[in-house]
Amino acid sequence: MTEPSVRPVSRRGLLTGGVLAAGGALAGAAVVRSSTDEAHPGEQVPVAQVGSAVERFHGARQAGVDTEPQAHAAFVALTLKAGTDRAALGRLLRLLSDDAARLTRGRPALADTEPELGLLPARLTVTFGFGPGLYAAAGLDDRRPPSVAELPAFRIDRLQPRWSGGDLLLQICADDPLTVAHAQRVLVKDSRPFATVRWVQQGFRRAAGAEPGRTQRNLFGQLDGTANPAPGAATDAAVWVPDGPAWLRDSSTLVVRRISMNLETWDLLGRTDRELAVGRRLDTGAPLTGSVEHDEPDFAATGADGLTVIPDFSHLTRAHVTDDRQRILRRPYNYDGTPTPDGHADSGLIFTSYQADVTRQFLPIQRRLAERDLLNEWTTPIGSAVFAIPPGCPEGGWIGQQLLG
Ligand code: HEM
Repeated sequence: MTEPSVRPVSRRGLLTGGVLAAGGALAGAAVVRSSTDEAHPGEQVPVAQVGSAVERFHGARQAGVDTEPQAHAAFVALTLKAGTDRAALGRLLRLLSDDAARLTRGRPALADTEPELGLLPARLTVTFGFGPGLYAAAGLDDRRPPSVAELPAFRIDRLQPRWSGGDLLLQICADDPLTVAHAQRVLVKDSRPFATVRWVQQGFRRAAGAEPGRTQRNLFGQLDGTANPAPGAATDAAVWVPDGPAWLRDSSTLVVRRISMNLETWDLLGRTDRELAVGRRLDTGAPLTGSVEHDEPDFAATGADGLTVIPDFSHLTRAHVTDDRQRILRRPYNYDGTPTPDGHADSGLIFTSYQADVTRQFLPIQRRLAERDLLNEWTTPIGSAVFAIPPGCPEGGWIGQQLLG
């Protein structure tokens, strides 16, 4: 969505909005105001913009997709319990949508046991994804977008069940890790009667405000996200389903791949070889044929040795797509687990891509990469899941209502 959606919650709004009502009961009524509502600047320590900024929850499309990526993320995949049918799913999604609508505004959830943790939204978004199992449980397989299915196996895959699949995904993102943790706790707690936790993947990017306006870096040190479709028309064309019945229009799909990155063998490479593997420079992110990050790569340019300057099997050459309808919107997060006792890293990328259609957009790119991509030498997919991202909902509505209601 292109509408400006970030608004700060003022400290005064929080204090006068009845968050702590008489008798200690929680009214959860923090008010979303614009920063100009601050009545007495300087009277109190100003709330940091990072903590108070709000992303909208309601709207035709879900937030957290083309939203400027927040610094922290938790991807929570749930498995539905036997008996969670269409009606139960409706109850679950009503509840979780209500939690998300409150928390994203900086209001505690209903019966929130730690209400103070709900007061700083920090651009919190909660994005719901429906896996193939959800459509089956609801008896609505005929409404499942055909590309929302397990991906075909690729020869590079070393998939582990503990990072793969899932019936319902909660993608929780915010610029503050405590906000993410609290939202995760509330949502998981409210899901308990209906579902079990299948996997959780936590990831991070640069802290909010650390490098404003810059493309984030992954743990190989590369600028990661340069060639994403531009915000606005190009992203719209790539990401959103433009028409169809109410449960499809303004929906999207999400591929989550957990990709382990072998930092130790990568460390053995010289800088030139690292840059050849991707086709871009490490410092500026410029293509090897250019000088600044957003220069167009010239795949035909050859060097003195007669070879193409950007190697034919570089990640850039293999992944490159020009037609907006074939492109994907990548929104990756880094993960960094506990090293082994002898110091070997457990690091990588929670690769996520949004596209209107997995089969038309993601699969051809992934096939080319699996077939031949220099980067495969240092990266291994260890988890994989695909979800439909249903349309958003208006105030008072709930996510999934068009499908299940
Ligand atoms: C750990 C795994 C991966 C790493 C470290 C990685 C890293 C990068 C880097 C550094 C770039 C160049 C800068 C940019 O445009 O963002 C890039 C571009 C790209 N990557 Fe990846 N990538 C990974 C996996 C994937 C996967 C699994 C896909 C899709 C199947 C993918 C699709 C793309 C696309 C479409 C581009 C833009 C190409 C262009 O049009 O210029 N990447 N990646």
